[in-house]
Amino acid sequence: MASLNIVILAAGKGTRMHSDTPKVLHHVGGQPILAHVIQCAQALQPQNIIVVYGFGGEQVKQAFAQENIVWVNQAEQKGTGHAVQQALPYLDDGQTLILLGDVPLVDVHACAQLLKQSQQSLALLSFIKADPTGYGRIVRDANHQVNAIVEHKDATDAQRKIQEVNTGIMAMSTARLKSWLSTLDNNNAQGEYYLTDIIGFAVRDQVAVQAVITDDEWSVTGINAKTDLVQIERVYQSRLATKLLQQGVTLKDASRIDIRGSLTCGRDVEIDVNCVFEGNVTIGDRVRIGANCVIKNAIIHTGAQIAPFTHIDDSIVGEQSRIGPFARLRPGTTLAADTHVGNFVELKNAQVDIGSKINHLSYVGDSTVGKNVNIGAGTITCNYDGANKFRTVIEDDAFIGSDTQLIAPVTIGRGATIAAGSTITKNAPADALTLCRAKEQKSIVGWKRPQKIKK
Ligand code: UD1
Ligand code: MG
Repeated sequence: MASLNIVILAAGKGTRMHSDTPKVLHHVGGQPILAHVIQCAQALQPQNIIVVYGFGGEQVKQAFAQENIVWVNQAEQKGTGHAVQQALPYLDDGQTLILLGDVPLVDVHACAQLLKQSQQSLALLSFIKADPTGYGRIVRDANHQVNAIVEHKDATDAQRKIQEVNTGIMAMSTARLKSWLSTLDNNNAQGEYYLTDIIGFAVRDQVAVQAVITDDEWSVTGINAKTDLVQIERVYQSRLATKLLQQGVTLKDASRIDIRGSLTCGRDVEIDVNCVFEGNVTIGDRVRIGANCVIKNAIIHTGAQIAPFTHIDDSIVGEQSRIGPFARLRPGTTLAADTHVGNFVELKNAQVDIGSKINHLSYVGDSTVGKNVNIGAGTITCNYDGANKFRTVIEDDAFIGSDTQLIAPVTIGRGATIAAGSTITKNAPADALTLCRAKEQKSIVGWKRPQKIKK
């Protein structure tokens, strides 16, 4: 099979973003705009992906250091034709597809269709735009064959009335592309080397030009300003929400969910409003997520209930567990089945075994908690001495009374009870009551509360 090259144009400065971050590194759905384009390119399984970069180059390259990409610097932006010229030395024979780095919702099916057409022709993706101002116009002859693309600034008044516009996405034989680009000039209104001039060259050389008209405007919309970014984000989110609904997920409001990464759901999952999912999140059957949760890189197993305002980061929640409201699971937390984590409880790097409960106002960090442990309100594992971190181990069936500090490293034995208000600095034996409080309870009879001082 002839080899496929994909050239992604991404040298534009993005002035209208008013940002120090290169335009293509701004995010849609939690990923850089350019990442979406690269993923589309990868799905087409090309031999080469070449990204033409310019402004903020090092930063852009670094963001995609893991990917197999040829980076080509276009030091000065002299137009789209000039940009593709920079990529020519890296192109194998066969076909070349040109994509734009600032069009995140680019449609892989439309690209595949262009590639099919480009076996015998120059294929381009066009769109009928209500207000075509600024775009290159597709000029057709009396037989409706594409004759040329004329840029807005070079167009006559009659041509400016044409509503069929160039999306910038096109595919052609690499050999033809090379020969056409070698004769490009910049004699036009903008003094730029226009890639779009090759359409005229194809007609001259009797190479058929096929315009595939797409009706999905968002899939060809480039991002130039934050106003575009926010619109595309909503479109992207609404498409993801629709997919979830089609799979049977209940969303209390499809317009109030944000997925910044990938969310995989089982059957009969319910998600209340204003939840944000980041990174890779997997949710099992019959899980319910309350309103206003932020969940990142997590696995939530079957039947777990996550109550409102819960934050989960890099953690695993076991089957049938109940978390929140207002709970925070920080990285490295693993909860087994049937655990309860209640309001204002923070867990970090804690492994909690089956049936254990931490229901109120506690910090449990760097800890191993056994089965059926009950940790009372206001318990703190003091895991940090200011320089080093230490572990707390709480064995099966232990009961930790309220307002207890467990000063790590420390182990609470199986079945041990710690009296409320204790500060535990030494290991507590199994099955015994351990307490460490002020020696005795005193009362001072006749003691008076302080009075307000009169001025
Ligand atoms: C271009 C097309 C126009 C089309 C429009 C669609 C040309 C001459 N015109 O317009 O027909 O309707 O896109 O949006 O091709 N870029 C570079 N290097 C450059 C110039 C541009 O890499 O020197 C990149 C930009 O980063 C961007 C893309 O090419 O991703 C398109 O450039 P842009 O300036 O937005 O498009 P126009 O030239 O206005
Ligand atoms: Mg331009």
